[in-house]
This record gives sequence, C-alpha cells and structure tokens, in this order.
Amino acid sequence: MVNDRRPDDMVRITTPELADAFIEEQISALREQIGNKKVLLALSGGVDSSVVAALLIKAVGQQLVCVHVNHGLLRKGEPEQVIEVFKNQMKANLIYVDATDRFLDKLAGVTDPETKRKIIGGEFIDVFAEEAGKLDGIEFLAQGTIWPDILESEAGIKAHHNAGGLPEDMKFELVEPVKILFKDEVRVVGERLGLPANMVYRQPFPGPGLGVRCPGAITRDRLEAVRESDAILREEFAKNGLEGKVWQYFTVVPDFKSTGVKDGKRTFDWPCIIRAINTTDVMEVTVEHLSDELIDHLVQRIITEVPGINRVLIDYTPKPPATVEYE
Ligand code: XMP
Repeated sequence: MVNDRRPDDMVRITTPELADAFIEEQISALREQIGNKKVLLALSGGVDSSVVAALLIKAVGQQLVCVHVNHGLLRKGEPEQVIEVFKNQMKANLIYVDATDRFLDKLAGVTDPETKRKIIGGEFIDVFAEEAGKLDGIEFLAQGTIWPDILESEAGIKAHHNAGGLPEDMKFELVEPVKILFKDEVRVVGERLGLPANMVYRQPFPGPGLGVRCPGAITRDRLEAVRESDAILREEFAKNGLEGKVWQYFTVVPDFKSTGVKDGKRTFDWPCIIRAINTTDVMEVTVEHLSDELIDHLVQRIITEVPGINRVLIDYTPKPPATVEYE
C-alpha cells in the first residue's frame, strides 16, 4: 500500500537502516503499482529524479525508460555523469537526447529573463513529449515530487513544478515514490541506493540551468565561459572543504566587456562574477566570505584558464536586496 500523504507520526529518515526499510517498502509498492508495464522518467541528474530512477531500476529494471534531455545549459560534466552512473553502472534503459542546438537556436537573441525561462521550459516539454511519442506501451510517468512540493502547492506558494507542464494528450498514471520525503531524507535514501555523493549532496541548480547565469542574450562563447568558470569554482570549493558546506555557489558572466591587457596587448573581455551564499529557506540569504588566499587562487585560475575573461569580481550582496540568481 503506497502512502499518498506523509503520516504525521512518520520517523524522519536519518539512518541507513531507516533508508533501507523505506527502499524495501517502496520496491514492493512500485512493483504492485506498475506490474509488467513501462514507466517513463525525465532524468535531469538532479537529486530527486536521480533517486527516483535508482529506486525504479531496483524495482522494475528495464521497464523503466529514462530520458535525459541535455538542453545545453547543464554544468560541465553533468550529462556525462548521468550516462556513466545510470547507463554504464546501473544498466538503465536510458535515452540521451543532445538538444543543445535546438535550445540555443531558439534562445538566440532573446534577452528578457522570463521569455528565456519560458523558452527553456517549453522546449524541454516539446523534446520530452517527442521522445515519449516514439515509445510504445508506456503507461506510467515517474516524477521526483517531494513532500515540500506538495505542501507548497497546497498552500498556493508555488505551482507544483513537477506536476502539470506536460501536454494534455499525454495521459499517464503518475509514479511518485519519494513524494512523502523531505529533501534530506531523499539524500539518505539516494546514498543507500548507491548513487555517488556528489550527485546526492549537490547544491541546488535552477531548471533553466546556466541560462540564467549568462544574463541577456545567450551566446555560445559566453555560455562556455560560464560553464568553465563554474567548473573551476566547484573544483576549488571541493578541494578547500567548502563543498556540502556552502549552500550554493556559482559564476555569472554578464554581457558587457571591459578593457584589460595581456601579453602586452589590449584586451576587451567579459568579467566573471563569483557568488557563494548560505541560507535555510532561500528567502533570506547571507554571503559566504572566502579567504584571501582562495580568492587570489580563483582569480588566477579563471583569468588564465577561461577564454574571454579578463577580470573577476566577487558578489558579497545578501538577499534581500539581491536575489540569488541574476535573472
Ligand atoms: P532567487 O534568484 O529567486 O533564487 O533568489 C532562489 C533559489 O531558487 C533557484 N532558482 C530557480 N530554480 N528554476 C529553478 O528550478 C528557476 O527558474 C529558478 N530561479 C532561481 C536559485 O538557484 C536559488 O537556489
């Protein structure tokens, strides 16, 4: 019997034993619900969809079809990790769609942040629906809905981002195996399912991805500068024990250039902004103060390794007044 709502007396899943018990319970519930039918899942590589995928692979194996849409706005190494973990290690039935050109072509010249978000969200649904249309006999759609999503949509705080969104004619029964869990519980369960720690404990990442960190009209070269500088920042945070300690950290490459000098020649390149923040609810945010040594090292790496960057800035603004993301 699957619980539709989190029981009031449910013990918080904080230990491997509690996670194992939850996993066992879900596996039999999933097998009962799905039988010998097929299930479709949009696997982004985020914590929730990854844990749902791992649970379903355990429960129904090849009856699960995962679709990973690379919209070209993912962080460095993310699509590769999804393929490595789910296809190579867990032997999942995974369809990888590189839709980079399609997304970036649609986004070309678009400067308005909300229009960018709409294009990314809309195109994602189109690509996913197209892939689903190529498959036969799918009856279920799995989603990484978690308990706070349900509470927030009930309270009218935000539209339930997992539900809805799909075209009307896609009629599936929903499979939501982590919908009674809080985020921290999803992570414990994910670890027990054998997912890598950097996948289970990763920082929040917006759905529109690096698109909102490349303010204004996205160009491939500036997007690449965001991706490369973000990879350097993540690498240095991990090396310096800040991974898993700082809530969210990333780089932004704004759409303006300034003068610089390199090898005796004038340059005219973008700045790269570093933002690292801490929070509990993202309504109010404080900044993480970095050591001078780390700042110097980050500046050196970014200006030497990232093409198109000649200046590094640090954003030490709390929220309010500044939001976490730049658009
Ligand atoms: P802001 O910028 O509103 O961000 O202070 C608060 C948190 O939400 C994330 N964020 C998003 N997540 N889709 C998402 O899935 C979005 O469009 C989006 N915009 C912001 C942001 O990264 C931060 O954690």
